[in-house]
Amino acid sequence: MNPSTFSLDESSALERDRCDVLASFRSRFAIPQRDGREVAYFAGNSLGLMPHSARENVERELEEWKTLALDAHFDAEYPWYSYHEIFRESGARLVGAKSGEVVMMNGLTVNLNLMLISFYRPKPDRYKIVTEPNCFPSDLYALQAQVRNHGFNPADAIITLPVSNGEYLVQMEDALAYIEEHGRETALVHIGGVDYFTGQLFDIAAITRVAHERGCVVGVDLAHAAGNVPLRMHDWGVDYAVWCSYKYLNSGPGSIAGCFVHERHGKDASLPRLAGWWGNDPDTRFEMDTTRDFVPRDGAEGWQVSNPPIFAMAPLKGSLKIFDEAGIDALRKKSVELTGYLEFVVKEYAGDAIELITPSDPEQRGCQLSLRARERPREFLDVLSAAGIVPDFRPPDVIRAAPVPLYNTFHDVWRFGQALKRAVG
Ligand SMILES: Cc1ncc(COP(=O)(O)O)c(C=O)c1O
Repeated sequence: MNPSTFSLDESSALERDRCDVLASFRSRFAIPQRDGREVAYFAGNSLGLMPHSARENVERELEEWKTLALDAHFDAEYPWYSYHEIFRESGARLVGAKSGEVVMMNGLTVNLNLMLISFYRPKPDRYKIVTEPNCFPSDLYALQAQVRNHGFNPADAIITLPVSNGEYLVQMEDALAYIEEHGRETALVHIGGVDYFTGQLFDIAAITRVAHERGCVVGVDLAHAAGNVPLRMHDWGVDYAVWCSYKYLNSGPGSIAGCFVHERHGKDASLPRLAGWWGNDPDTRFEMDTTRDFVPRDGAEGWQVSNPPIFAMAPLKGSLKIFDEAGIDALRKKSVELTGYLEFVVKEYAGDAIELITPSDPEQRGCQLSLRARERPREFLDVLSAAGIVPDFRPPDVIRAAPVPLYNTFHDVWRFGQALKRAVG
């Protein structure tokens, strides 16, 4: 992608849309309207848009409940007893995992706590957790709670990668050097695959390699990476990963989250874990035999606790189908171009008024750009909003804009530019 090929002309944006091989996917989504016109939605990093299939998938399960009630557990078109298994392959494909390494269950932070119980195993001389400087508060609370549960002090135990570029970004060389330096006292390296605040994409493979060489466990929060960038969790050897499905996976607010456990841990029944009947071997799950111990089923599914919320899971069925059809590599190709165009437009129209926090190198970012308005951030936001542009805002001054290749157009980005020009003016 060469920025010199971009143009500020509306006709050029429309031409790119005409040539877009993924353009038809937009019609699979409900695009919100304002004053009779579709908004230019840039908040898919926060909450993805609704695929039309969500309604039919939820309605199907409501109908099963109405007509079959209890029997739907086994007799429904997609039996509820094994509903989570629908996502075994498509969920694994999404994060580059093997079949059995991924389960969709619970919420993201619940899954993180489940993973920390199994994989944060501190010892007196190795109890630290290395995380990124902008660690999402919910992740941080989970880390702090687990540190306290083991009798350590979070202020001492949780250490962060150094910020070495302005106020925000982590240089990979510095990150790796830091992990090498602190690795021997570190039990766990837990990072976000794509930083929620800056949009920086970390080199998960390199971090995992260096951390493993130092004997640390590696966990990744893929909330802003799953469905955004190609991932290879299995090959990179990551120990666990967690993510939500309401951002780039478009499965609806609070919808069911993902969890990856590398296969080398999947059969280890000796790992400490929380237990419940859905994690038990399904052949004996319904026997209600309390004389028998919990037998975790192999793989990530052995970390399930409760029977899953079918209505929350149903929209995911359609969402993952869309990803299978579009293919993450094709999505990434469009994403790099779309985000490159947004960067071009922002630089052309906003100049010094906006500081681009996100790395300029496409290899180091997903689709999100984080834009710091140097002055009057709220006014910027108001002008964008009046023009039907929907980004999201992180107080005090950062506007996050994520052109999502499944449903955003180059013309949306052009509209963003026009509104920005007005805001700067
Ligand atoms: C990076 C990250 N971690 C954790 C969470 C919290 O997710 P949940 O409320 O689904 O547990 C979010 C939510 O946006 C997030 O972006």
